[in-house]
Amino acid sequence: MRPKPPAGTLLAKLDDLPDPGARAAAWEGGAVLLVRRGGSVTGWSNLCPHAALPLTLPDGRGLLYKGETLVCPVHGASFELEGGQCTGGPAAGDRLTPIPLSVEKGEVRAA
Ligand code: FES
Repeated sequence: MRPKPPAGTLLAKLDDLPDPGARAAAWEGGAVLLVRRGGSVTGWSNLCPHAALPLTLPDGRGLLYKGETLVCPVHGASFELEGGQCTGGPAAGDRLTPIPLSVEKGEVRAA
């Protein structure tokens, strides 16, 4: 299990996140994955439930398919971005661990 950021922790500037896109926050070595779609950002523990490996590439990028599905780069499990449920691949029946966020004044913070 990866650590969860304390409430109020600055995780990213909204303008620094790809849109749509996914990127590890620069907190605790990339322990939080941020997914941006427009002005909305969702946060997830950056750990795939299949084999407990990072959901991001070594450079911190996450893989979105059609801007709507997160794909694990290790074995290809896919996850929907509303509740984090696995929709295909070897993590079937599992889901991502959400990290509550707030987005205010262009800053993404842990809630
Ligand atoms: S570690 Fe993500 S699908 Fe295997």
